[in-house]
Amino acid sequence: MLAIIGGSGMTKLASLEISHRQIVRTPYGEPSGPLTFGKIDNQEIVFLARHGHGHTIPPHAVNYQANLWALSLFKPKRVIAVVSVGGIRADLTPSTVVVPDQIIDYTYGRKCTYFDKTDRPITYTDFTHPFCLDTRRHLLLAAKQANEKVIDGGVYAVTQGPRLETVAEVNRLERDGVDMVGMTGMPEAALAKELGLPYAAIAAVANHAAGRGTSVRAIPLEEVYAVLEKAMVSVRNILGFLVKI
Ligand code: HPA
Repeated sequence: MLAIIGGSGMTKLASLEISHRQIVRTPYGEPSGPLTFGKIDNQEIVFLARHGHGHTIPPHAVNYQANLWALSLFKPKRVIAVVSVGGIRADLTPSTVVVPDQIIDYTYGRKCTYFDKTDRPITYTDFTHPFCLDTRRHLLLAAKQANEKVIDGGVYAVTQGPRLETVAEVNRLERDGVDMVGMTGMPEAALAKELGLPYAAIAAVANHAAGRGTSVRAIPLEEVYAVLEKAMVSVRNILGFLVKI
């Protein structure tokens, strides 16, 4: 089974032939919503909308522990996280699709581990490669087969949100070596790693990060959603090929 976590711009998977929905309780509380089970091209899929069905849970309030735990119960062979980001690197313009290869975590106060109980031996999870290399390879191959242009690699900064960044903050991110900035990749990727899930992200660039691009004004939200929708057409197309690999 392939697990897909949908982000902003992907609260449902139109191509999914839904068989059923299931509410799952976990030792960490409830996931963002019921898991949706179904098939794309005869391949079993489990889908979860990260921000809830009605897109009401902001990034800092998502129960990442429950979400990953719930998905792991169904032993997915891969977990694909769809995320939206602001582009910092010059070529990451709105509606570009990227498969990032590295993360810098700027979040705070989120429940970021399953090893936070004092009754367990201390565990340091290796996070050298935050994304599963094989799953990334599959995403890139699927993109090629789908004839969709994607950028291979990039550093994804995860900020706390839900506010967007200042220009100075984006300048600092750039000095840190960041290519794109979003709010949901962490602790999601780390929790997936702790559970041994083969997890990779596909990022849709929704906007230029603050102070980037040619516009000096903030971008209206409707414009961001329109751009995101365009990128999500590519992402859906890629996922359609991924299920067949
Ligand atoms: N900053 C942080 N997160 C985001 C952005 C951004 O500019 N765009 C989409 N998610």
